[in-house]
Amino acid sequence: MTTPTLLRTVEDLGTVLGSARAEGRSVGFVPTMGALHAGHRSLMQRAADENDCVVVSVFVNPLQFAAHEDLDRYPRELEQDLVVCGEEQVDIVFAPSVNEMYPSPILTTVSVSPLHRILDGASRPGHFDGVATVVAKLFSMVGPCRAYFGEKDWQQLAIISRMTTDLSLPVTVRGCPTVREPDGLALSSRNVYLTDEQRTQATVLRRALDAGLELLAAGMRDPEAVGVRMAEVVRTASDAELDYAVAVPADTLQADGDLSGVVRLLLAVRFGTTRLIDNDGVDLSNGS
Ligand code: PAJ
Repeated sequence: MTTPTLLRTVEDLGTVLGSARAEGRSVGFVPTMGALHAGHRSLMQRAADENDCVVVSVFVNPLQFAAHEDLDRYPRELEQDLVVCGEEQVDIVFAPSVNEMYPSPILTTVSVSPLHRILDGASRPGHFDGVATVVAKLFSMVGPCRAYFGEKDWQQLAIISRMTTDLSLPVTVRGCPTVREPDGLALSSRNVYLTDEQRTQATVLRRALDAGLELLAAGMRDPEAVGVRMAEVVRTASDAELDYAVAVPADTLQADGDLSGVVRLLLAVRFGTTRLIDNDGVDLSNGS
């Protein structure tokens, strides 16, 4: 257990990381919106394994929430987040105010096209531009580092990887496996919104992905048939409302004929006002 240094300003972050780098210490960076759970912990652990100095940012980014979304009710629990970071050997927690992050109205945004407007981007217009823009700003504030993202948000990971390459940012992006509850539900800060009944039914996401993977294992290569199979499983949960269920190439996220190579199954399902996403993947290269 350590006590992380809590920093509130970009200037202080630059000073502290400047000293760390002057001592030759490598930097691992985990961007988050707080309400930290075991999924976030897994990223911190990987960052601590691979770097000398670990920075976690905690910032609920208004730019990635639409007006009707859950910005106001998104859980904020910095005291508890600091305890989690201490347990995971985090050195620095960077928790800027909205004003510190956006001192003036933002005129420049980062848009990774067409990845930003498909799947989650279609249901949440502007969301991924908000994510890419804040992550670009955070990368600029933190400087050269390895940065850790969860595969749980596969489209986000694909967008940030592409942005980092396209803009030659001095950051190595690392994807980390999804951490799940014992019954298969992917951990998410939004799971707290679920009623007991919705929580029970939410295992349908994992079951739908398994059904899709099974179909692929049996030799099915038609993306539509795999999507239809996953949708059928989602429909078995009475409170679940399907947003999308697709089988796509893991990098472009857009189907282009029969499936081959590295494939990702992606799902978004609504329970009432709570929207859950999940995904899993398989490499069809051998024998496809
Ligand atoms: P947040 O939802 O707090 O997630 C922070 C990081 O934790 C993301 O990289 C996310 O993919 C990862 N994560 C969440 N649940 C996980 C799980 N069950 N297993 C593994 N990793 C998991 O994603 C964001 O914040 C924001 O969009 C952000 C990138 C910080 C930009 O504002």
